[in-house]
Amino acid sequence: MSLSHSSSSSDVVLRVNGKRHEVTVDNRSTVLDTLREQLGLTGTKKGCDHGQCGACTVLVDGERANSCLLLAVAADDRDIVTIEGVADLPAAQAESDLHPVQEAFLKYDGLQCGYCTPGQICSAVGALGEADRGWPSVVTQDTAAGIGGAAALDAAEVRERMSGNLCRCGAYGGIVEAVLEAAASPATANGEAR
Ligand code: FES
Ligand code: FES
Repeated sequence: MSLSHSSSSSDVVLRVNGKRHEVTVDNRSTVLDTLREQLGLTGTKKGCDHGQCGACTVLVDGERANSCLLLAVAADDRDIVTIEGVADLPAAQAESDLHPVQEAFLKYDGLQCGYCTPGQICSAVGALGEADRGWPSVVTQDTAAGIGGAAALDAAEVRERMSGNLCRCGAYGGIVEAVLEAAASPATANGEAR
């Protein structure tokens, strides 16, 4: 634990995309604002700033998190992956510069606007990791048994698991196809950055 703090600020260590950052943050600062304003990582977007749209989704210790709801002090000494680091996650298709989820989004035209796409891709990577860990969703038939990995996802599972990422546009169909294709390729789950 690296945290030291006063009544208004704290010194924290954020490990972002495999790089260690020592920063002093206002105790009220979110990970989202710290990434964007102190670390210059503007790929993560602020949509609603209220935990409702998913635009700010990042991976924290391999799991999805709305960075607008996560205080930087609570992310001290944890591993964060943003859209800038997704392509460096371990992935099967080493011949590509992109993560398989990014490749699939391109292939199926799952791209949305610049505000929505980073969160959608981070969320998709996180969702595949959750499925690989066997975590059920509310549409999983046997929630006690869980799901047998990302390859076992179907369209209903993908829609449910991606339902925290909202916009008013029409790319959802392409996103479902993209996530299913990425789910079918091995080793697309999130993990430690290389
Ligand atoms: S900006 Fe975080 S959920 Fe909308
Ligand atoms: S794609 Fe960004 S608001 Fe719809």
